Amino acid sequence: MELLDHARAVRENAYAPYSNFKVGAALRAADGRVFTGCNVENVAYPEGTCAEAGAIAAMVAAGADGITEVAVIAESPVPVSPCGGCRQKLAEFAQGDMTVTMATTAGETKVMTLAELLPGAFDQSHMDR
Ligand code: THU
Repeated sequence: MELLDHARAVRENAYAPYSNFKVGAALRAADGRVFTGCNVENVAYPEGTCAEAGAIAAMVAAGADGITEVAVIAESPVPVSPCGGCRQKLAEFAQGDMTVTMATTAGETKVMTLAELLPGAFDQSHMDR
């Protein structure tokens, strides 16, 4: 199954009663395994979590340690773009020139590298410890 198909499937399980904006994300780990996540909202709005964060948590819990590819999908007018916080979360585990495929449920896709999505990212090189 294509990575985007995994994202499309997990999106069905999204819990988004407040925004009514269901998102699905799938990532391929460096060891080849695929992990998925969906957004999980909360009545205390800031406690909601993004689809990408769920997929990253599943990957780390399973013992994988790097991401080579990501796909994210929503019922949006234009291909859904990961929020700033999720770009930083993805950067923590990105390997090589990682691509992010952004998609609409209607079938439009857009592919960008994480470096394009998060230029000048804060990383370990900015710290002296
Ligand atoms: N959301 C994601 O899960 N991933 C994205 O890439 C964009 C936004 C979620 C957060 C919130 O539950 C809903 O979409 C509306 O912002």
